[in-house]
Amino acid sequence: MILSIESSCDDSAIAITEIKTKKLLFHKKISQELEHSVYGGVVPELAARLHAEALPKILAECEPYFKDLKAVAVTSSPGLAVTLVEGVTMAKAISISLGIPIIGVNHLVGHIYSLFIEKETKFPCTILLVSGGHTQVMQVNSLEDIQTVAKSMDDSFGESFDKVAKMMGLGYPGGPLIQELAKDGDRKKHNFTIPLSQSPLIAFSYSGLKNAVRLAVEKAKDNSEYKDIAASFEHIATAHLTQKLKKYFKTNPPKRFAIVGGASANLYLRSQIEELLKPHNAELLLSELKYCSDNAAMIGRVAIEMYEKNMFKSLDDIDISPKSS
Ligand code: KG4
Ligand code: ZN
Repeated sequence: MILSIESSCDDSAIAITEIKTKKLLFHKKISQELEHSVYGGVVPELAARLHAEALPKILAECEPYFKDLKAVAVTSSPGLAVTLVEGVTMAKAISISLGIPIIGVNHLVGHIYSLFIEKETKFPCTILLVSGGHTQVMQVNSLEDIQTVAKSMDDSFGESFDKVAKMMGLGYPGGPLIQELAKDGDRKKHNFTIPLSQSPLIAFSYSGLKNAVRLAVEKAKDNSEYKDIAASFEHIATAHLTQKLKKYFKTNPPKRFAIVGGASANLYLRSQIEELLKPHNAELLLSELKYCSDNAAMIGRVAIEMYEKNMFKSLDDIDISPKSS
């Protein structure tokens, strides 16, 4: 079995996965959303302190599995430095005390493998990752062959939802709150410009849209107008993704496509991507809703592949790296 730890942002999670069968034997996550909600976003120092409280509590529940552990895996990059270090320190202590090797997992690769929890992998696959920290398109052939073909030049898709929700005083995380508000709104009411629509670049940008939404929020007479702003924003934020993907598909038609990351839970995005894939007859893979946002099950799933390839780290090598690459 492998014990895996995730603490890259505001979720403390630990999983136990059986190597041979890929079965998830244990998974527990303590989310800090409520604590950060009052600040309208994640406060890194607070997040680190909450991980220091939550992770040992979850670990105590894993004690019955300790004797069967063959490795300990931990998210080592990318993420918030002060929160990554909480998980990595715990993983090092487990590695030393149980005498088992340590596996450092990339969080973004974790999101890719959230598609395959308790399942076999299906590659090659074109993957759109939309989370709070990233918006990127990847061409994935295997664990060791992942090419990033497009990414955001500034804010991410999920982050723009968080910022719009903050402008409206709705709380954090903004994605589910904006999705709920947008349900009864008019998507055509505000004619926000689709970012980079005149640019030949296959890349993403959300800072301009965010500022356009800010002006609309400031102009609104009262919060009864927010639902139309939310709906129009969600529509344009999604249209930006589908427009660039359509362009990419012209030269790289997808046979299999997936959306992963916290914001892949967005229902409007899912429906628009389904439409986009129809002419290509491409298979669409989605993670189960409970594994879209950060979790340790996906880290454990990657760790199985890495264990089988002996991709271990020494205690000195495994260090946190806040950046993606
Ligand atoms: O993957 P994740 O849990 O954490 C990171 O690795 O960043 O993603 C969290 C992000 C937040 O920005 C959150 O607002 C967004 O995913 N999110 C959504 C939805 N649910 C979560 N964004 C849009 N629509 C949703 N339904
Ligand atoms: Zn994530």
